[in-house]
Amino acid sequence: MDTQQVYNDNAGKWLRLEPSSLSDFTARPLVFEACGDVEGRSVLDIGCGEGYCARELKRRGAGDCLGIDLSEQMIQAARLQEEQDHFGIEFQACNIVEFKPARRFDLCIAVFLFNYLRVEEMRQVFAMVYQALEPGGEFVFSVPHPFFPFVRKQQTAPFYFSAEGKNYFADVNEQFEGEIWKRGGEPLHVQCVHKTFSDYFEGLRSAGFSTLPQVQELTVTPELAATDEAFFGPLLNEPLHVLFKISK
Ligand SMILES: C[S@@+](CC[C@H](N)C(=O)[O-])C[C@H]1O[C@@H](n2cnc3c(N)ncnc32)[C@H](O)[C@@H]1O
Repeated sequence: MDTQQVYNDNAGKWLRLEPSSLSDFTARPLVFEACGDVEGRSVLDIGCGEGYCARELKRRGAGDCLGIDLSEQMIQAARLQEEQDHFGIEFQACNIVEFKPARRFDLCIAVFLFNYLRVEEMRQVFAMVYQALEPGGEFVFSVPHPFFPFVRKQQTAPFYFSAEGKNYFADVNEQFEGEIWKRGGEPLHVQCVHKTFSDYFEGLRSAGFSTLPQVQELTVTPELAATDEAFFGPLLNEPLHVLFKISK
């Protein structure tokens, strides 16, 4: 299924002003934490969707902020929200693989973008990010955990990718279809172009990053499960997402 169409067709479902989808609880808060003190720092949000993360970083005091997304409908939703918020976030519709930044940034985030790109496209984007960052700038991104579709086979709420008959090593660049649920019960269609851990590490190195990334494997913790057993409980201790943070 075509990614641009998936997001153009579902932009209305994605627009949210407070945490609602599973990963708004299991991943995005940790992404924001990993960004640290963003006061006055310029931010490039790639695969920004309808602007949820850019808005949160602005609330935390971020400076100049540019969001890029493939889907015109997601960008339109982001701009409509910006008309109400006046955060001063700039949004641009563009395929990130073709994006050429005209300025440099202190921080780049990519929240569940790379699961839509093939390995070679991701490497091109890593290289672009390296060029776009100021010296000492930081790159924070989250992706589905590469093991998740192989470890969790049930195709049920609140999150799954279908990897039936697929192999961890042989099926790199294969696209797995999946769904992630909103807490209210509505599923969102998501996709995962499969990559191994090596693909992320080698991609960062070949882009020019020469330090070790900080890596956090994210799951549903017992504390989170205790807040809503019915919703979070089925994924307790499953390897859901991975967060990478690296400096230029
Ligand atoms: C799961 S959504 C996440 C959106 C946002 N980062 C968030 O956390 O709410 C993934 C986004 O990546 C965008 N995307 C996928 N492929 C892209 C590409 N080649 N260039 C730019 N954006 C892309 C989709 O349009 C979608 O909005």
